Amino acid sequence: VIEIIQAPMAGVQLADLAIAVSDAGGLGSLPCAMLTPDQLHGELAKLGPRPVNLNFFCHPPPTPDPVRERAWRLRLGVDPDATLAVPSRNPFDQTAFEIVLAHKPTVVSFHFGLPAAPFVEGLKRAGIAVWSSATSVDEARYLDAHGCDAIIAQGFEAGGHRGTFLGPDQQVGTFALLPRIVDAVRARVIAAGGIADARGVRAARALGASAVQIGTAYLSCPEARISDAHRAALRSSTETVITNVYTGRVARGIPNAFVIDVGPMSELAPAFPLASVAVSALRAQDPALGPFWAGQHRRVHSLSAADLTAELAG
Ligand SMILES: Cc1cc2nc3c(=O)[nH]c(=O)nc-3n(C[C@H](O)[C@H](O)[C@H](O)COP(=O)(O)O)c2cc1C
Repeated sequence: VIEIIQAPMAGVQLADLAIAVSDAGGLGSLPCAMLTPDQLHGELAKLGPRPVNLNFFCHPPPTPDPVRERAWRLRLGVDPDATLAVPSRNPFDQTAFEIVLAHKPTVVSFHFGLPAAPFVEGLKRAGIAVWSSATSVDEARYLDAHGCDAIIAQGFEAGGHRGTFLGPDQQVGTFALLPRIVDAVRARVIAAGGIADARGVRAARALGASAVQIGTAYLSCPEARISDAHRAALRSSTETVITNVYTGRVARGIPNAFVIDVGPMSELAPAFPLASVAVSALRAQDPALGPFWAGQHRRVHSLSAADLTAELAG
């Protein structure tokens, strides 16, 4: 049987979704990029010893650029002199490493490359599988050479942030990227992007995937903690765009007035994740601002996460 992995989705889910999926025979994921160490401890306590994938970002910390920050705030209509909260997306670090080693999850997966080699080696030595996303064959080869046990082939269809970490984004679709990566690496390959039902799972398997990682289809489940505005957008809109206006990095979501007005791509956006600081100040006043992350295959349903997992495993 092919493994069904519920994609980690920072900002829209906590341990309850992962628990439902793992208890239904899939692999649940907990996105940790936006959690404080205290919040992470709390979610890990809920998970207990069941299998889980803990997911972290490992972007290079940005260099603050006050001139750019000011231009961005003025573009958004945010007071350029206001003191705003620090960005809530942090890269994997020593604190996270120690929390992870103490919990011993089945898998730790990364987005935007890999952390420093001693972290990767330490996780593997502890018997934890290390995975990361690749959006090109070059990235897959890099991850294979740097010790990844599995490579998530993330196609252009995928919802949320693109994991691209080795310059220019080649924008390859899942079913073109997947067989090319399968042929290029020794590690096992997981397909992600545009897979939302058992047909898609079978297709990914036929192309050499050993598992599938599914995000957008789980957004319709009651366990997903998305805003009413996000849920309504998933129901009513069929369009998605690639935009950098929420965080400074490209991600796929449903366009709303904010995305269309400021982007979808803006050269003013500060480096990831600094663009999110001013946007968060605006979001606090208006939940319809988004982001409404979603992939190109928008399957809207009313299944629980357990029922969706069972159906996908078909
Ligand atoms: C709302 C949302 C949030 C996401 N957040 C993360 C994240 O925190 N970490 C990560 O590795 N991938 C994240 N992704 C990307 C997924 O891991 C996966 O690549 C994608 O959902 C697969 O495509 P699909 O949405 O068409 O199923 C996110 C995707 C969505 C839809």
